[in-house]
Amino acid sequence: MLLLRNCQGLARLSLLRTQRSQLLQGTGSAIPWAGSQCVPCASTNAGQSGGQCHTHASAWRHMLAGLFLGAGAMLSYGLYHRQQAKQAATTVQPVREVPTFPVYSQEEVAKHRTLADGVWVTYKGGVYDITDFVAVHPGGDKILLAAGGALEPFWALYAVHNQEHVLEILSEYKVGELSPEDSVQQEASSTDPYSSDPPRHPALRVNSQKPFNAEPPSEILSDNYITPNAFFFKRNHLPVPKVDPDTYRLEIQGLPKGPMSLSLAELKSKFPKHTVTATLQCAGNRRSEMTQVKPVKGLNWGIAAISNATWAGARLRDVLIHAGYEPGVKGKHVQFEGLDRDITGTTYGASIPVGKAVSEEGDVLLAYEMNGEELPADHGFPVRVVVPGTVGARNVKWLGKIVLSQEESSSHWQQNDYKGFSPGTDWDTVDFKSAPAIQELPVQSAITQPAEGSVVERGQEEVTVKGYAWSGGGREVVRVDVSLDGGRTWHVAQLRSSEKGQEAAASPPPGRAWAWKLWEVTAPLPPAAQELEIVCKAVDSSYNVQPDTVAPIWNLRGVLSNAWHRVRVKVSED
Ligand code: MTE
Repeated sequence: MLLLRNCQGLARLSLLRTQRSQLLQGTGSAIPWAGSQCVPCASTNAGQSGGQCHTHASAWRHMLAGLFLGAGAMLSYGLYHRQQAKQAATTVQPVREVPTFPVYSQEEVAKHRTLADGVWVTYKGGVYDITDFVAVHPGGDKILLAAGGALEPFWALYAVHNQEHVLEILSEYKVGELSPEDSVQQEASSTDPYSSDPPRHPALRVNSQKPFNAEPPSEILSDNYITPNAFFFKRNHLPVPKVDPDTYRLEIQGLPKGPMSLSLAELKSKFPKHTVTATLQCAGNRRSEMTQVKPVKGLNWGIAAISNATWAGARLRDVLIHAGYEPGVKGKHVQFEGLDRDITGTTYGASIPVGKAVSEEGDVLLAYEMNGEELPADHGFPVRVVVPGTVGARNVKWLGKIVLSQEESSSHWQQNDYKGFSPGTDWDTVDFKSAPAIQELPVQSAITQPAEGSVVERGQEEVTVKGYAWSGGGREVVRVDVSLDGGRTWHVAQLRSSEKGQEAAASPPPGRAWAWKLWEVTAPLPPAAQELEIVCKAVDSSYNVQPDTVAPIWNLRGVLSNAWHRVRVKVSED
């Protein structure tokens, strides 16, 4: 192992040195991976690294350059290395094939997230050291998001990766196998209620580990109309329950036909499968901006406690009708109970008005699929409620029970949380009974790129700003305004409701705009400005607009934070 690392370290240094001098001299004649550094590796037990040494500098780099970025700028880079590959092929020593690899835990892989520690990724059970690629790659910072974790979600993100020969090239970078009984789960003691929580992608920005709450890096949001499952924000109040899909039962109560239950197979076979693309947003999204005004209680979410997915499952309406619901049946609320529980046995719960639950236009799903896959553990496997247009908190995961009732859910999260209050209300004066539970959310937008504190070059003359916009209750976002000067002058952004380059999606029926819009605008840099205060605000189909500042909407729980989003960037004169 040590030899393996030494070999790679030497080769890495050699590569970087050689390339630097080649680039400076404008030549391509050196063979960075061949010869003395690799041959000793090949003659040791760690000989597999020799196999990597002679080829990955060439093929991997120019292929992955295209794969990860697909940028035209990379073409010349690729051609340069292709020439090197030809020369390397003639001088490299034959190396011994070693069929076995060392086994690494996910935890060990997760330690390799920087150039100093080495950049490791996993793919389908293999462990790969891509340090050399990242070190010399102009877009390496993007790949660093995958560092220490799985490549798969990134390949889903950047579709060009989906090419057959990529695996072959990747195999040349292989350094190990991923232990199946790895990391967190094994180490957690059996008494830890979180010990069976699923593994998560290390690129997520963790707000709390137990229970697990995390958001993706915000630029990932605007790079993808549909947020890949691994990067969809995760908001858990309790440990993730382990649910056996074969014995799972969904209990239904409070309906004329009496209590009944459905198996997962029945839910899938008895009711037509419906598909809805809907954005989920946590009530606490952008809470960190409220905290800056005055401290609040709650997780310090940035702007990415929001994501968009295509959900599939049975319609709640169909299931309720199957259980005897018809107009006139008594009941004002539909309560949901999760299978996740705290140590006292209390489960997560929430409710929605019955009108939303049974409306044909409400599109409420008992979802068992998310983006074409079965629901991931973190997102409610095997079944969750998806209540489009409604605050995340009512989208109950790991659904165990549905009850039609005259009352709202009595759960803490319906009664004593997720409610809005005046900026003048504090913890001494708050009366949770005095405010309605949040259901539909207000209009929202935020800037995902450029990032706060980043630098734009004056020479570029213009700046591109990207973000997302969404409104609750099915109200469609009809416009996003962007300012580069703190709100003095405005540009109208271009809205998009499909993946970049794909045909525009058909406009949703009025009142059923459940999915967000991504937006983008490129505007000239204001002359002489040394700093930009970039601002965005969205307008929905009811002409609701976002408030301009946070202070007047501050509330003690830090929910409903939807003021104009502001990002400050520097203008560099160089
Ligand atoms: N359902 C259960 N059973 N337990 C939970 O902790 N969290 C809620 C909701 N449903 C929660 C739940 C909250 S507050 C939010 S914002 C969404 O799930 C988050 O869904 P996600 O983790 O799939 O993004």
